[in-house]
Amino acid sequence: MRYLVFSDIHSNFEAFEEFLRLKKIKGIDAYLFLGDLVGYGPNPNEVITSFRKIKNVHSVRGNHDKVIADLESSSLFNPAAAFSAEWSKVQISEENLLFLKNIPKGPLVVDHFITICHGATFDEDYYIFSVFEAIESFKFMTTSIGFFGHTHFPLIYYLRREKLDIVPLNDDTRIKLDPNTKYLINPGSIGQPRDKNPASSFIIFDSDKREIQFIRYPYEVKKTQKKIREAGLPELLASRLEAGV
Ligand SMILES: [Fe+2]
Repeated sequence: MRYLVFSDIHSNFEAFEEFLRLKKIKGIDAYLFLGDLVGYGPNPNEVITSFRKIKNVHSVRGNHDKVIADLESSSLFNPAAAFSAEWSKVQISEENLLFLKNIPKGPLVVDHFITICHGATFDEDYYIFSVFEAIESFKFMTTSIGFFGHTHFPLIYYLRREKLDIVPLNDDTRIKLDPNTKYLINPGSIGQPRDKNPASSFIIFDSDKREIQFIRYPYEVKKTQKKIREAGLPELLASRLEAGV
């Protein structure tokens, strides 16, 4: 099976459209989406409408999806995130709102060896930013491989003989997975990369070869920035796209 793992689109239609056009995503058996279709960006409806056309996708909701679907308040968000969430609620069509409300809560065990979650395996909103959170997350994972999003930072935590280590994912890389090791893998973000590289990223996991392929691709950042400014969304949301932060 070839799985495509992607996360955090954040209403960025240019990044998502470019992703859907890539030759590299042809011949995929199943898609695994790790949450945050919306929030921050200027095109919530366009992104949800396109996303709904993807066949054979397993998804979990993100914290922004939850707030924009009115399942939780935006009061815990920072001002820019809260502003964009309230703005998105006004934009979103009834049909797309219903779709958003029905994205399942993570973690989700996809099959006997893969778990997907937005934040951590023990709490959908928790950020895995360090080995401490990764260790906790491994404790609550029943499969050998877990994919998570939320931090927008592409990397792999691996646990082998009770020793935990990290592999950052920078440029296009292929990594063979060891059957006796547990992995927590973050594919980075489609719509708002935060590892100081504005290019979008995702992962292809080939379960027969037990191989991870990390892929980066550029998109028209300037076009998205222009739309953010024209919509009257906070300037920070436009500038950070270019800086990849
Ligand atoms: Fe996110």
